[in-house]
Amino acid sequence: MNKQLILNERPKGMPDSNTWKLLESPIPDIKDGELLIQNHFISLDPAMRGWMNDSKSYIEPVQLGDLMRAGTIGKVLQSNNKNFQVGQTVMGWSGVQQYTVSNGEGLYPVDDSQLPMQKFLGVLGMPGMTAYFGILQVGKIKEGDVVVVSGAAGAVGSVVGQIAKIKGCYVVGIAGGEEKCKYITNQLGFDAAIDYRSQNIFDAIKETCPKGLDVYFDNVGGEILEAALSRLRKHARIVICGAISQYNNIDDMKGPRNYMSLLVNRATMQGMVVMDYANQYPKAMQEMGGWIMEGKLKSNESIYEGIENFQETFKRLFTGEKLGKLLLKVIDK
Ligand SMILES: NC(=O)c1ccc[n+]([C@@H]2O[C@H](COP(=O)([O-])OP(=O)(O)OC[C@H]3O[C@@H](n4cnc5c(N)ncnc54)[C@H](OP(=O)(O)O)[C@@H]3O)[C@@H](O)[C@H]2O)c1
Repeated sequence: MNKQLILNERPKGMPDSNTWKLLESPIPDIKDGELLIQNHFISLDPAMRGWMNDSKSYIEPVQLGDLMRAGTIGKVLQSNNKNFQVGQTVMGWSGVQQYTVSNGEGLYPVDDSQLPMQKFLGVLGMPGMTAYFGILQVGKIKEGDVVVVSGAAGAVGSVVGQIAKIKGCYVVGIAGGEEKCKYITNQLGFDAAIDYRSQNIFDAIKETCPKGLDVYFDNVGGEILEAALSRLRKHARIVICGAISQYNNIDDMKGPRNYMSLLVNRATMQGMVVMDYANQYPKAMQEMGGWIMEGKLKSNESIYEGIENFQETFKRLFTGEKLGKLLLKVIDK
């Protein structure tokens, strides 16, 4: 049997037990040209919250009654498709379910002989690509830049900070709680950390960046974006990657009041969507893989188990009760 999660109700605020419904149905037989994948891990991403709103975005919303969209990685169990072999590891957008029948479209074989497969949903997957292109091509960092990143102990932020270190920047990470702040400085090599839960964010950015900042990589929006805007150096770049502090608050979204700081400092603020860089992923993965092998790029996954625990696990993105990339192991044993 295949367990799948469908979107049952559009959430207002934080998703709850009515948001999704678990369905069970027999695993379909595959036809000519198709393959059957057993999904091992499902990626839990803040963007999934936006896909549940019935509003225009960079991608179509998930419709009520449809399978919940999600990034996945798993193994080919059966194949009638000449491009895929049984036993191969494949990643794609198979959604929140244990088994997927596919014609192969949108699936990518992954060589996980050197690294565990979950890394391909994290540091070498969509979040890692976001960090890479966001900080290098949108943030346009150069040696000596002062870089501040929020969501710094998360999937994207932790990679952003480490790439900026590799490129010779001074890096300050903003994260929630002492444990995460210690992780980014002691384990990942950030120069300084700010605990936004216990410190005044405006004062803390001023203290850690006394001459201001050149690049702010924004994962959270809200007050933290405002605090970063208040400390810009001339020609600073702000990368708008996400605004997780506002995702459950769509009707009353808080924007920065002090955006005129962009004018005063001849600064730019640019949004980015990772998919725009898809044709460059292989090159990025190669370079990032090299950094991983050299020990320059570290990563962590918080892995929870069981498709039944999807909702409780998803909430951790917003409460912060996880470190690095959040994954759900759904393999049917
Ligand atoms: N533009 C793109 O193409 C693209 C692609 C991927 C991701 N994103 C965006 O990038 C951001 C990070 O994604 P991710 O996958 O790396 O998630 P993540 O950082 O691994 O997880 C989310 C983290 O956000 C922090 N957070 C939650 N609520 C917060 C709040 N109110 N204020 C400040 N921090 C809060 C929590 O950490 P703390 O414990 O530190 O609070 C939590 O661990 C998200 O906004 C996401 O939507 C954008």
